[in-house]
Amino acid sequence: MKIYVPLDSAAKALGADEVAEAIRAEAGRRGLAVDIVRNGSRGMVWLEPLVEVDRGSGREAYGPVSVADVGALLDGTLPSHGTVEDIPFFARQTRLTFQRCGLVDPLDLDDYRAHGGLAGLYRAAAMTGAAIVEEVTASGLRGRGGAGFPTGIKWKTVLDAKAEQKYIVCNADEGDSGTFADRMIMEGDPFSLIEGMAIAGLGVGATKGYVYLRSEYPDAIDVMRAAVRIARREGVLGPNVAGSGRAFDMEIRVGAGAYVCGEETSLLNSLEGKRGTVRAKPPLPALEGFLGRPTVVNNVISLATVPVIFEKGAQAYADFGLGRSRGTVTLQIAGNVKRGGLFETAFGMSLGEAVEEIAGGTASGRPVKAVQVGGPLGAYMPREAFDTPLSYEDFDAKGGLIGHAGLVVFDDTTDMLKMARFAMEFCAIESCGKCTPCRIGAVRGVETIDRIARGDGAAAALLTDLCETMRDGSLCALGGFTPFPVMSALTHFPEDFTTVKEAAE
Ligand code: NAI
Ligand code: SF4
Repeated sequence: MKIYVPLDSAAKALGADEVAEAIRAEAGRRGLAVDIVRNGSRGMVWLEPLVEVDRGSGREAYGPVSVADVGALLDGTLPSHGTVEDIPFFARQTRLTFQRCGLVDPLDLDDYRAHGGLAGLYRAAAMTGAAIVEEVTASGLRGRGGAGFPTGIKWKTVLDAKAEQKYIVCNADEGDSGTFADRMIMEGDPFSLIEGMAIAGLGVGATKGYVYLRSEYPDAIDVMRAAVRIARREGVLGPNVAGSGRAFDMEIRVGAGAYVCGEETSLLNSLEGKRGTVRAKPPLPALEGFLGRPTVVNNVISLATVPVIFEKGAQAYADFGLGRSRGTVTLQIAGNVKRGGLFETAFGMSLGEAVEEIAGGTASGRPVKAVQVGGPLGAYMPREAFDTPLSYEDFDAKGGLIGHAGLVVFDDTTDMLKMARFAMEFCAIESCGKCTPCRIGAVRGVETIDRIARGDGAAAALLTDLCETMRDGSLCALGGFTPFPVMSALTHFPEDFTTVKEAAE
């Protein structure tokens, strides 16, 4: 009997380690031969720890499983969900980037290969760099870290740059609240990121890669480091990548916990051992990045999507999606919801469908008031925007952004003035201090919102003016995007900014 218990840190936080240990102990007492596999998460966090049991006729899913359930689990009397693929939340997905996450043993390269892994790398190994970059361009893949910049164009800039040494840097500093896709893939399917980075290296002519991984993800750090060792031992990394005759190797580097180090130039400074402050652009990292050399800086999900593009072909990937938003989006559903977790779907699903149908509405049972899309720098979308399709352009047109595709849901008891204040306070705390609109503006922003809260309605115009200055004058997205949550709260929920004043009158 094979039993799968996730090693994913969300599952562990909900007791997966204790459940795995209880299964081992109880099976030992019963003299049962049980093979426990620590897999990644299938992404249904409300069912974690989600345990799958293979008694020889497929994997049956149980969850949430507690230590007290282990006896019944081994007896076969615990009620099951059927297979994971039967669970509607899972069945409605289009899993491309996450096709193996939770299915395979994360550190078993043969298992990875048996589920389509490395097929893309072997195909890329027989292609020229220019053909690899062309394939990525044809897929329509855009940066999944937040900005949505076309990945193929970024790679082409690095490919065309003349330099002795080029680098691939993976941004795994997933600091946005409510996002966890990067962590899930690194813990559950680390070889997909390694494979994507190796293909990027072959494509642009870079022989060295770094994953800049946040220190708050100790499990992901362990899994990634172990996976790199295995990949090196098996010739996936090294002097002759997948028999290509070309070299690529990589290392895991750990960040020290500043949100702004998720901004690419700040990340590069930190990676070079300097203080994590933002660099002015230009020069673009694609031309002068790590140690001043041409560097591809891509997010984890962008790079982990590359193998499936090469495995199935650029057109097969581009066949999914809406308009210029091609392929799939990896929604991370969190906050006040019945069903939170990772939901991969083609671009184009409406925000309302994701929140009401997929997530099942609020856990509190109260009406949804707002959904913050795209992390702490994303806009608060009201119910009236629920018909907006999840695509870069459609969100842009509504004054929002897809960002890293985190959805944090709030019910009607939420005070949006407090949420706006939180955004400004977050910016004030995390600001690197390099530019005035952000460093001073965020502090003044908190004070101005406090004035509104005390009943000074005239301060709303001042807040709007301050947001415009921050948006137009900040050096990077932290100061430049903080106005999104603030102004969306003020615009869509004006009543939350006037109630105190009215009460005072
Ligand atoms: P950006 O629009 O300046 O650049 C996007 C990317 O394209 C960068 O990598 C840039 O170097 C590259 N690029 C631009 N023009 C290029 C060219 N001609 N050739 C090659 N490469 C080119 O956006 P930025 O400031 O890098 O990111 C902003 C976004 O990041 C925001 O949407 C924000 O929401 C998101 N963000 C995400 C975080 C996370 O934790 N995932 C944290 C903070 C912000
Ligand atoms: Fe630093 Fe803020 Fe300016 Fe970005 S916007 S460079 S975080 S001070």
